[in-house]
Amino acid sequence: MNDLSAERVSALLTTRRFGRSLSIVSETGSTNDDAKRAARQGALDGHVIVADAQRAGHGSHGRSWSSPAGTDLYVSIICAPRVEAALLPQLTLAVGLGVALTVEEFANERASIKWPNDVWLRDKKCAGILVEGMSSGSRTSDLVIGIGLNVNRTDWPEDLANIATSLKARCAKNFDRARVLASLLQKVETQTDLFFESRGLRAALPAIRERLAWRGMLVRVDDKSGTLEGVDETGALLLRTETGLERVLSGTLTRA
Ligand code: BTN
Repeated sequence: MNDLSAERVSALLTTRRFGRSLSIVSETGSTNDDAKRAARQGALDGHVIVADAQRAGHGSHGRSWSSPAGTDLYVSIICAPRVEAALLPQLTLAVGLGVALTVEEFANERASIKWPNDVWLRDKKCAGILVEGMSSGSRTSDLVIGIGLNVNRTDWPEDLANIATSLKARCAKNFDRARVLASLLQKVETQTDLFFESRGLRAALPAIRERLAWRGMLVRVDDKSGTLEGVDETGALLLRTETGLERVLSGTLTRA
């Protein structure tokens, strides 16, 4: 964990808020769960929790997030602006753009955003995002932005081997996790600030659309199939089906 000490990360930070209060632990259950607990106990906006390994990292749809020690980044950011729960899918895409820009900086190639919460390099996933709202009615109080980014990993369990990649697996060299983390926090802070200032995705939408995976291709979202045409300002996927253009708000996207 030498490359991931709080001192090194703090020295590299260029953010205003994200990571200015920072906790890096060697192992935990889930950094998102820790961040939710910390938020309830009054942790500050921008407080970041990073773990070298997670025992129970989780992703969307209750899936687990494989989180071994020594190679990757498991990061959760407490974000205080109050937004309606309905805005969380849009915010996930804005965060996805920040993650994609970070991946591009280090991999030196275009990353894609696979709706709604993955970042891919070429044809494999290298990062996942899980934004969780701590809701009270339709408003959310604190948000937790969870990001798992595969940095130096080259081995995956059998079920992930064909669908997962990392910066190292693509570029055949090791990356300094502290540098990747500092850049990630800067880029995600920039995108979330833009999102909250303009109360939505409008500013980020052109860059998201340029990076959207499988545009123009035949895809499925759960039991619906059609041609993927894009995303709209609400973060909905636009699918051209037999019956016309449909807005899809959630689901698992696959190639048809
Ligand atoms: C997904 O692809 O479904 C989202 C995966 C999100 C994983 C990250 S790792 C850090 C944070 N802690 C968690 O338990 N989950 C997120």
